Amino acid sequence: MTSMTILGIESSCDDTAAAVLHGWAGAADVLSSVVMGQTALHADFGGVVPEIAARAHAEKLDLCVNQALKDAGIGLDAIDAVAVTAGPGLIGGVVSGVMCAKGIALARGLPLYGINHLAGHALTPRLTDGVTFPYLMLLVSGGHCQFLIVSGPDKFKRLGGTIDDAPGEAFDKVARLIALPQPGGPSIEMRAKAGDAKRFKLPRPMLDRAGCDMSFSGLKTAVLRQRDKLLTDAAMASQDQADLAAGFQAAVVDVLAEKTRRALTEYAPLTNVRSICVAGGVAANMAIRDALKHVAQEFDAAFIAPPLALCTDNAAMIAYAALEQMGTREPDGMGLSARPRWPLDQTAPAMLGSGKKGAKA
Ligand code: KG4
Ligand code: ZN
Repeated sequence: MTSMTILGIESSCDDTAAAVLHGWAGAADVLSSVVMGQTALHADFGGVVPEIAARAHAEKLDLCVNQALKDAGIGLDAIDAVAVTAGPGLIGGVVSGVMCAKGIALARGLPLYGINHLAGHALTPRLTDGVTFPYLMLLVSGGHCQFLIVSGPDKFKRLGGTIDDAPGEAFDKVARLIALPQPGGPSIEMRAKAGDAKRFKLPRPMLDRAGCDMSFSGLKTAVLRQRDKLLTDAAMASQDQADLAAGFQAAVVDVLAEKTRRALTEYAPLTNVRSICVAGGVAANMAIRDALKHVAQEFDAAFIAPPLALCTDNAAMIAYAALEQMGTREPDGMGLSARPRWPLDQTAPAMLGSGKKGAKA
């Protein structure tokens, strides 16, 4: 196969993104990666508003694609294929991206690949670190939380995941409860540095159950109860806020670390897994990264965490997933449709619950 130059487009949540990638599966360079966020647009609403997100994507996609081409120093004539997130996600945004990609593909006579957003995240360690299949992936973001064994460009086995909130969603909700700014992950991580993680006894949900399923909703409610006890008279004291932040973060760390241990104990010997990788916005958390690094050491496995800009939502991962998959499948035609739900592992039972960023896949 010759090298390819691919334009990637991502608009499944609250980031409009475009990127240009050049190379082969296992050896590609990101020529450009533009991400236009929408945090300010949703700030007054305490979460992503699907209709506002869809409009902003429709307005920004052209600009974003032009900027990605400009940053890469090429024109559309140098592009060999177009890759776009076709799900899962907020349907208005996904449709905007798919329509934009179809327009470009049709106008330039280019092959079009509809990509599963989660496959983009799950294949990122191959783009950033050339990790070989199979590997264990913990995907933790604002909308998703699952353990996957990745054994090929479109071979994903889900070992377990959250049955209610995603961890990022829990970080965001807890931040709101204790009056910290959004997005909650970074502000809780920062505040937790000054806190005593042991002061409040917070639960470690589902560690008493076998397997890799997780739950974060009850933990959030436990923080709410503690906060209400503290808020009997005035505003929360600064130290209380820090201690709650630290206690909550420590509980999430413990759950993710212990469930990772279980995934490695139960499945690594069966699947020959030697690497554990993380991706998604929550993988930016240093306490979580450190804990997972230690777990990897316990099992003599490599630990891979892509750089932050490629952990959070971006279009380079979408272009890269197309590069990986084009060897084993045909492009999609103009009949490509946007899918709000699109589980990576079609054989796994459907996941319960639905987070702020749409139905969980
Ligand atoms: O992957 P992402 O950018 O978007 C999707 O959800 O697809 O993840 C965003 C989530 C937010 O919930 C945010 O609070 C969380 O990732 N996050 C963090 C940190 N940075 C971002 N959570 C914990 N610690 C962090 N440092
Ligand atoms: Zn994502």
